[in-house]
Amino acid sequence: MKVLVIGSGGREHAICWKLSQSRSVDKIYCCPGNAGIAQIAECISVNQNDFQALLDFVKYEWIDLTIVGPEDPLSRGIVDLFQKEGRRILGPTKAAAQLESSKVFCKDLLKSHGIPTAEYKTFTSYIHAEEHVRFKGAPIVIKADGLAAGKGVFIASTVEEALDALRVIMKDKAFGEAGERVIIEDCLQGEEASYMAFTDGKTIVPMVSSQDHKRIFDDDKGLNTGGMGAYSPAPVITPEIEKIVMTKILEPTVRALRSEGIIYKGILYAGLMIHNGMPSVLEYNCRLGDPETQPVLSRLKTDFMELAMAIAEERLADITIEWMPDPAVCVVVSSGGYPGNYRKGDVITGIDAANMLEGVQVFHAGTAFKENEIVTSGGRVLGVTATGKDIATAKARAYEAVQKIHFDGMHYRKDIADRALKKQ
Ligand code: AMP
Ligand code: GLY
Repeated sequence: MKVLVIGSGGREHAICWKLSQSRSVDKIYCCPGNAGIAQIAECISVNQNDFQALLDFVKYEWIDLTIVGPEDPLSRGIVDLFQKEGRRILGPTKAAAQLESSKVFCKDLLKSHGIPTAEYKTFTSYIHAEEHVRFKGAPIVIKADGLAAGKGVFIASTVEEALDALRVIMKDKAFGEAGERVIIEDCLQGEEASYMAFTDGKTIVPMVSSQDHKRIFDDDKGLNTGGMGAYSPAPVITPEIEKIVMTKILEPTVRALRSEGIIYKGILYAGLMIHNGMPSVLEYNCRLGDPETQPVLSRLKTDFMELAMAIAEERLADITIEWMPDPAVCVVVSSGGYPGNYRKGDVITGIDAANMLEGVQVFHAGTAFKENEIVTSGGRVLGVTATGKDIATAKARAYEAVQKIHFDGMHYRKDIADRALKKQ
């Protein structure tokens, strides 16, 4: 079978890598891909925002399944178009993807179906929003409604900070239309975890748990990033919590959508805050997490193509999903300056040496080819991932591999997975 993967990050490299191990996959295409993906897939230069061109490509090449990595094409309706034309595609429709693309849609759905999430109010007028912030006091959380590349959420520790955030979103319109509505919600305390599941709209099958490290520096200091590392499993997700997440959060969410006429198919990713053993939803994503996917798929035993086909064809109940018991750790190596401005085009060395180490797989994110060399081309450059008999071994292997890699200005956190080690 032939498969097309859409995206260019570490998540998409992990997806292509897993597909390349499938017995039933003959050919992998990726749009646009990166230098690592190019070693296992054919990277195509079709404009990834031109869904009609992608559909034409899929028809011309007789591609059996398309897998969408990032949220943006999902929220703009790529699945709706492909499904209308009878093409198999893995991901939710535009209506279902609102769970991520509109925080107001998500919060209203959760609230009206009694699914645990922080108390909130929605505003379209700055004056009323300001009044509410002054009434509630700090700490308080301000969120732009729409997609804002992870930058639309402000955790304000003072009223002044909250008002600044409101100004940025509502007056300066820093996020354009995405900031037309604003959510002001209670600040939750506790520990965060990611919980991802496969669903075909009927059956929901959880993945192994994972947790990422969002801040750029050690000890969770500095600016938020897309994620500087991740590990799986996340000890914070105990079997008891897992049961609550399934029965009180994921299953009711899929049912709630169904009751509104929306069938959710694809990946459901709940960002959770766990406080005193009780999880509540911080946000939903409608896709796999990056970098959580790198350790999670490293542990997947089941053939990923068979799994993806089963979701697309709504027969997830028929297959058994198996995972390796060994934990996995992914250390993201980023360009100096990220998440602010950073340089591109620096030559990367040592990837092959890192890949030779036991249990190690280096996933590329922001990489490109330049005259037969691999160079940096993004903020997050590589996701150095390792498995091991326990988290400590996986972590040690990942860091040993990072030592082999070099490019000018490279940065990485030294404390990935320490949070999990402290819990043991
Ligand atoms: P979101 O995009 O909604 O997940 O928000 C991004 C990050 O902001 C989350 O991963 C949390 O670290 C933090 N966050 C969001 N909502 C809250 C909340 N209600 N209380 C505390 N932290 C939050
Ligand atoms: N690592 C967080 C995300 O993928 O949204």
